[in-house]
Formats: sequence, structure tokens, C-alpha cells
Amino acid sequence: MRNKSSLFCAFLAQFALVIGLKLKNVSIPQYGWMDAGSMLSCDFDLEEEKLLVLKWYKDGHEFYRYTPTSKQPILTFPIDGVYVDVSKSTLNNLLLKNVTLKTGGTYKCEVSADRPTFKTLSQQSELIVIAPPKSAPEITGIHEVVSVGDSLRGNCTSWRSKPAASLMFYVNGVKAENGDTVEYSPQSDAEGLETSVLGVKFQVEPSHFRNGVMELRCTATIGNGYWVKIKTISDASINAQPSIPGHNRLSTSGVESVQLGQKRGSFTGLIVYGFTFSGLLLLLQQQQQQVLFPHPLIMHLPH
Ligand SMILES: *[C@@H]1O[C@H](CO)[C@@H](O)[C@H](O)[C@H]1NC(C)=O
Ligand SMILES: *[C@@H]1O[C@H](CO)[C@@H](O)[C@H](O)[C@H]1NC(C)=O
Ligand SMILES: *[C@@H]1O[C@H](CO)[C@@H](O)[C@H](O)[C@H]1NC(C)=O
Repeated sequence: MRNKSSLFCAFLAQFALVIGLKLKNVSIPQYGWMDAGSMLSCDFDLEEEKLLVLKWYKDGHEFYRYTPTSKQPILTFPIDGVYVDVSKSTLNNLLLKNVTLKTGGTYKCEVSADRPTFKTLSQQSELIVIAPPKSAPEITGIHEVVSVGDSLRGNCTSWRSKPAASLMFYVNGVKAENGDTVEYSPQSDAEGLETSVLGVKFQVEPSHFRNGVMELRCTATIGNGYWVKIKTISDASINAQPSIPGHNRLSTSGVESVQLGQKRGSFTGLIVYGFTFSGLLLLLQQQQQQVLFPHPLIMHLPH
């Protein structure tokens, strides 16, 4: 008899796995933006069952509990960096506001059905918070007019981001070889933001000039977003000559310009700089923060 009932229980348990509560889609954005909002969603199907409780955890610590039958159905528990905007959250969607670097971590949604099954299901995923640099990189230490044979030395600095930006120099659009650049380790500050520096160092050759001008470009990349600084450098020997009509080369020397953009067409997120940040946040929330960067790309980044 006991054998039979335990068999029956096993059968019921199997049955419960097939019918009852199902977790359909737990969606945690892979990337959150500093100071923005992040929408976490937990889509489940009760299939005739009653919800007993829905819980959200960050790094194993519960921060939100919804118990429909309780007098106070929503409870939140304080965790550093986790602020739930209760007014903008629903049963399936939780809006985290005031995202900081501390908001990053592993989020888990756990739902439990009421009697008779008490079935509990959960799913988790990691949220990585990105703090983009507030400006394009800076090129320093380089003269605006140089001569063939000069040793050109300078730095490109991308200030305060998370993760650290990867820097690259291009001379007239061609990537500078490793021997022409000097690597420095990123420097962290108290807030955990990182500043990247890349040096450039090479002897100026005639081939470096196109119509008397060399274009030095520094790109800072985080995921599929990039920030660019361009500096144009003039050939001293050409600029020493009387200017050729229609070819006023000096006028372009030392000009710095800035470009920003993204490598893949999917998202405008990193065109942040120079545009209103709040507009971007709205966009992010509306799009429920689809994946901003392809994950494999970000994995290469130095942390
Ligand atoms: C999961 O939910 C997210 C956010 O609500 C949505 O963008 C995505 O398309 C859903 N995925 C599936 C497989 O339903
Ligand atoms: C969250 O951000 C809002 C503005 O967006 C600000 O008024 C509020 O003080 C912030 N709260 C915390 C806990 O940082
Ligand atoms: C470049 O930056 C490094 C590290 O901050 C510094 O030691 C070096 O002096 C700088 N070089 C130039 C040419 O500014």
C-alpha cells in the first residue's frame, strides 16, 4: 500500500511538472546604464494554479516579495544599489531605478504556486552595469606642426568609464602597429570607474603626410559603442612655404574633432554623449532594454 501511494505521489509530482505553474520568460537586461532604469521581467503561466508568492533576489538576497493574499502584498527589503520603483512595477515587470555600479549582479525571479503543488520555479541571470565615459577621449602631448624625422609622442586618454574603454590609434585611417603604441594599465578611482591611457610613439616619415597633413585618430570602445577623437597634424616643411592658392593647409592643422557612434546598427545607446541623457533613458525603458551589446564583444573588455 505504502509502495502504491508513494508511486502515486511520484506520479503526481511528474504530473505537476507537466501541468501547473510554468516560468515562461525571465528577462534581465544584460546591460544596465548608470543612472538609468532597468526593467526586470518574470513572465509565468499559472495554468489554473494560484500564485502563493513571487520573490526577487539579487546575489542570493531577497529584495522584493509579492504575496497576493497578504494584507501587505508587496514587501521590499533594502539592498545597496537596488531601488525598486514600485509605482512603475507590475506583477511581471520590476523597474529598478537609480542604477549604480552596485546594481550589477545576479538577479533571480522565483515563483511559487499555492496548494496543492507548492511548485517553486526560478531562473536567474546577470545584470552588468555600464557607465559610459562622459566625453570623447583626449589626445595630449602632440604638436600641431611636426617635421619629417621628428619623434611624435603623445597619449590618448578616455576618462572614467566602466568597464575601462579599449583605446586604439589610427594614422591616416590605418591602425597603429603595436610597436608604435605604448600600453598603460587602466586606473581605477574610488567610485570604481576606470580611466584608460594609450601612448603613441613613432618617427615621422614623409609617407605619414597626405597633402601635408597627417590625421591622428583615437577611438575608445566599450562593447559596440565607440567614441572618437581626431587630431590633424601639419607637415612643418610644407607649411613653411608660401600657401598655395586653394590649398590653405595651415587652416586644418591642429583641428580636433569628435565623433561618436556604434558599430552595429541595432542600437543608438552610445550616441549618448552630446544628446540628452533623459531622452535615451526613455528610449531604453520603452525598448525594455534589449541587449545593448553582443555579449561576446564585451567579454573581451579589460575589467
Ligand atoms: C521575454 O521578455 C522580454 C521582455 O519583456 C521580451 O523582450 C522578449 O521578447 C521575451 N522573450 C520571449 C522568448 O518571449
Ligand atoms: C533617484 O533618482 C532620482 C532622480 O532621478 C532622485 O530624485 C532620487 O533622490 C534618487 N534616489 C536615490 C536613492 O538615489
Ligand atoms: C602618457 O601617459 C603616461 C601614463 O599616464 C605618462 O606616464 C606619460 O608621461 C604620458 N606621456 C605623454 C607624452 O604625455
